[in-house]
Amino acid sequence: MLKAALALAVAMLATSAAAASPTPYQMLAPLLDTPWTEQIGTSPWPQHPRPQLRRGDDAWQSLNGIWTFQPGLDADADTADPPAAPLAQEVLVPSCIESGVSGVMASGVTHMWFATAFAVPAAWDALPGGDGDGGRRVLLHFDAVDYEATVWVNGDEVGFHRGGYDRFTLDVTDNVVAGGGENELLVFVFDPTDEAPYNIPNGKQTRQPSHIWYTPCSGIWQTVWLESVPSSYIAGLDITAGMDGDVTITIHSATGTPSTPVEVALHDEGGVVVASHQGASDEVLAFSVPVPALWTPDSPTLYNITVTMGADIVRSYTGFRTVSAASVNGVQRPLLNGEFVFQFGTLDQGFWPDGIYVPPTLDAMVFDLQLLKSLGMNMVRKHIKVEPDLFYEACDRLGLLVVQDMPSMHTGSGALPDGAQQAEFERQLERLVAQHKSFPSIVTWVIYNEGWGQIRDAYHPEVGITARVREMDPTRLVDATTGWFDHGAGDFSDNHHYAEPQCGTPFYSLPSSPYDSARIGFQGEFGGLGHRPAPEHLWPVQAAIDTIPQTYEVHADLESFNYRSHVLFSQLRDQVALFACSGAVWTQTTDVEGEVNGLVTYDRRVLRVNATQWRADIQALYAAAAERTR
Ligand SMILES: *[C@@H]1O[C@H](CO)[C@@H](O)[C@H](O)[C@H]1NC(C)=O
Ligand SMILES: *[C@@H]1O[C@H](CO)[C@@H](O)[C@H](O)[C@H]1NC(C)=O
Repeated sequence: MLKAALALAVAMLATSAAAASPTPYQMLAPLLDTPWTEQIGTSPWPQHPRPQLRRGDDAWQSLNGIWTFQPGLDADADTADPPAAPLAQEVLVPSCIESGVSGVMASGVTHMWFATAFAVPAAWDALPGGDGDGGRRVLLHFDAVDYEATVWVNGDEVGFHRGGYDRFTLDVTDNVVAGGGENELLVFVFDPTDEAPYNIPNGKQTRQPSHIWYTPCSGIWQTVWLESVPSSYIAGLDITAGMDGDVTITIHSATGTPSTPVEVALHDEGGVVVASHQGASDEVLAFSVPVPALWTPDSPTLYNITVTMGADIVRSYTGFRTVSAASVNGVQRPLLNGEFVFQFGTLDQGFWPDGIYVPPTLDAMVFDLQLLKSLGMNMVRKHIKVEPDLFYEACDRLGLLVVQDMPSMHTGSGALPDGAQQAEFERQLERLVAQHKSFPSIVTWVIYNEGWGQIRDAYHPEVGITARVREMDPTRLVDATTGWFDHGAGDFSDNHHYAEPQCGTPFYSLPSSPYDSARIGFQGEFGGLGHRPAPEHLWPVQAAIDTIPQTYEVHADLESFNYRSHVLFSQLRDQVALFACSGAVWTQTTDVEGEVNGLVTYDRRVLRVNATQWRADIQALYAAAAERTR
């Protein structure tokens, strides 16, 4: 009854909204801003969003900008009868509807509608490659929508997608009017976040933020774009390049029909072609580059690639590096290009006080990474979130090893995933690997974090998942369980302990497991030193402020924070020198909401670390590691 009344109210709202014009967009003041908030504007994220498969700038168009929005009510009722655009109010895309940036700043909305209008540039008809079987195609790309999306173009339902972190592409050629006419795009989004009975991969998002759990993100949170492609086109590239100069590349054609002729050329940093190869699509092409300059954090050399398949010409890039694990002087180590490289970086949440999941600008996103580089870190652990491709490209260019977590499901009040939820988690993990395995910077896949969503009674799912990930991607290591419930799977024996590290040590603390010398000794998390910033740098939510004392160790001032940092670094250095520590992750890059343990505050305005001291302490870790392998 109540539901029916609500449905009527929503229908009336939709009707009146369609008649009236939508409430204009206005950025609502975020609870806390950043130095980039003012630069967001109404054409956010204008960059080409897919650096590893790029066509000419005349062949794509961003659909980011002002769309219209309204809440929905119920999946079945809503999608059976889509509303007419424009919707009730304007919204900025991409954004999280919970953020001020969106112009909506809603909370607890599970069903929602987004609409926009677009034109397919008339000039696209004139691009080459439209001859033959019906001309060029028009692709519509959504780089990430959290959590499910149903898409209509001009009233035709053109697709459905589940999963908040992966790109999906719809061929809308037969649904659009070409030649510059107007097309209507409507998207229905369902995102239950962490509401029971749902248990979905969503990382740190919760509807009840507290301490280490943060404000959620719902809706279209990464770039939406249109692309013009020839009738026969390249749909994907899988590229590997190793220290020996061997390159493999699989050019996936849209039709998946093998034996379309293809041509590949690799260019060095001066643009000179250093290797070229001819073959067929949809099979593994292998060739070699003599004596390539290797990709390392200190010297992140990249080679541009041009791939030609008939009329389709795309650009990509790769870096030559080999990731492996082996015993060095009796200790199991992660190797980069055949050498033990001690990995040191931060736990990187990727949350922002203005955009929540969406960095305000590309520069803002890169600022965090450059901070890590400037302190001498060579790694970043991307924590239970997946970023836009431009993040991984930045790591490739800057030289930062990426330890990539799968976004976790929730353990909730003891409720672990059922069979269907587990299968969906595994399917989305395979998507993560498939869509990111050509970025040279990614060196490790992480399956489970601290037991979150990890079934651990009946069987150990990480054993089978590890085997599958290795089969899909033999060029990286797998950290099956970072922290807590370890059953011997994967390449790492990974401890979490706060504040002090216990990295490859003969001592440990529950619920982590004792160091296993058959695998790589790693400290997946430590540190977490807290310090309450001046109020103007603090997330001004009482529930968040109330949990500050739950931070592992709270410091009265930055002198104390840096003193204890130095002590923890000294302990870690000893563990590298004396025991079997091969890498460590400091918690964390920035403050997030009530968690005040960042190198910088949540607004990125106050640097807590004494950079001189930290640089010296971090160099001492590499020196101790080098000493062990002499
Ligand atoms: C490599 O490709 C990137 C992106 O397309 C481009 O900006 C850069 O100029 C290229 N480098 C060379 C040497 O061609
Ligand atoms: C930062 O650390 C360096 C090296 O330990 C020290 O000399 C300097 O006094 C520290 N700076 C501050 C502001 O505490």
